[in-house]
Amino acid sequence: MEKTYITTAIPYVNGNPHLGHAMDYLLADVLRRYMMLQGKEVRLQAGTDEHGSKIFKKAAELNIPIRDFVDNNSKKFQDFIHSLGVEYTDFVRTTDADHERRCQAIWEKLSDHIYKDKYEGWYCEGCEGFVTDKEHAENDGICPDHKKPYIKLSEENYYLRIADFKDQIRDAIENDVMKITPTFRKKEFLNLLKDMPDVSISRPKEQVEWGIPVPGDESQVMYVWIDALSNYITVLGYPEKDISADWPADTQIVGKDILRFHAGIWPAMLLGLGLPLPKNLLAHGFITVNGEKMSKSIGNVIDPVDILSKHGIMPFRYYFLRHASTTEDSDFTWDKYEASYNELANDLGNLVQRLATLCKKNEVAGTKGELKADADFDGRMSKYEFNFAFDIVWAQIQNLNKRIDEEKPWALAKTEPEKAKDALVSLVQDLLNINERLAIFLPETAAKIAGIFETEQITPPETPLFPKA
Ligand code: MSP
Repeated sequence: MEKTYITTAIPYVNGNPHLGHAMDYLLADVLRRYMMLQGKEVRLQAGTDEHGSKIFKKAAELNIPIRDFVDNNSKKFQDFIHSLGVEYTDFVRTTDADHERRCQAIWEKLSDHIYKDKYEGWYCEGCEGFVTDKEHAENDGICPDHKKPYIKLSEENYYLRIADFKDQIRDAIENDVMKITPTFRKKEFLNLLKDMPDVSISRPKEQVEWGIPVPGDESQVMYVWIDALSNYITVLGYPEKDISADWPADTQIVGKDILRFHAGIWPAMLLGLGLPLPKNLLAHGFITVNGEKMSKSIGNVIDPVDILSKHGIMPFRYYFLRHASTTEDSDFTWDKYEASYNELANDLGNLVQRLATLCKKNEVAGTKGELKADADFDGRMSKYEFNFAFDIVWAQIQNLNKRIDEEKPWALAKTEPEKAKDALVSLVQDLLNINERLAIFLPETAAKIAGIFETEQITPPETPLFPKA
């Protein structure tokens, strides 16, 4: 069986999971289920990013011992992922002893490309990222993502010589060896790469004590991004294990804000280690709320638990997988959410109820679902246009409703019962065929539909799949 590997960004554990974090997981889950449908064995990694000054300061502010703080919050993310109906195969915490030890080994392997220098410049603690003087000036000294002033750093750090790999990285991106989706982000990043300086990859221990010690230098800890990016391979057992069965990853899923770390620093690290680059980087858009940017640091976050508790997991997945774009920003409002729920109930819930009722009345036996090729659907999926792929499935569902209205099996049953039966059999077959792909997006719903129609005696569910409030 062909093996493949998908990764998700590992969130900082300085707060609770928020709505934005759901996007990484949902997209990864859809891709995983799609690949499994194609007969592949898929490894899906998730994890938590637990070092750095931002997390350390938050624990201190709350007066919680740092270990307890990261343990509790990491657990919340694990629960959150499960609450979305997402199944991962590997979970990595950057405070795991294995991860820490492997990161140090990675550092040592990169030593030919590392040098020490003095850094003087700007840093955003929200991004845990350095910015150039130019970016600092363009943003009037305030990080546009976190709305907080950059802090001035003046310290001695280790650097990774990005210059050693720039040409190779540019080539890989330009030629789609490491393909960045969407294309406009690829172009955006290629522009950024031109002026990309060497990156600082450590911080003085007296500034940041919560980090992985730099091997051979007690006074420094690793920059949190070096530690975090390594997770994608430490979780596979690198460097002790041969990871060639899983690496390179097929797709690494990240939010648009962290593409630059994944398209710049990460490939430099991989090239320095002599490892191949991931085949695809998928940068998704942001979820806004009522048109406003949402972030932990700004404090306007919507608790996904509130959305989940309203109608359950499947309506949540329906909204964010069909009505949010895979690559553009997308907005959430409660009104839109209710409208989306009604659509789910009207289009799919009613279809199942009506069709099962008609089948029962006319004693139509169930059948087994079958996956038929669908080139349009595969085309959208291969371009990571998941929401458009879902639209195709939905149009097919709406079409079944239309066919029932037009074919009127209840009327036919009175005059030509055999024809009515044939019409129903064909509708059930088509629904079960569509259901194979619906399962990628709404697995629980699809399992219920299979339970209803893949049996000898079709019986409508006692409560509709999506009850109206
Ligand atoms: N710890 C880093 C990632 C390290 S990966 C080696 C980080 N963490 S984060 O908690 O800030 O973000 C985690 C993921 O959530 C990222 O992919 C980020 O883009 C995504 N999102 C954060 N806010 C988001 C929205 N409002 N909308 C959609 N995704 C968002 O960055």
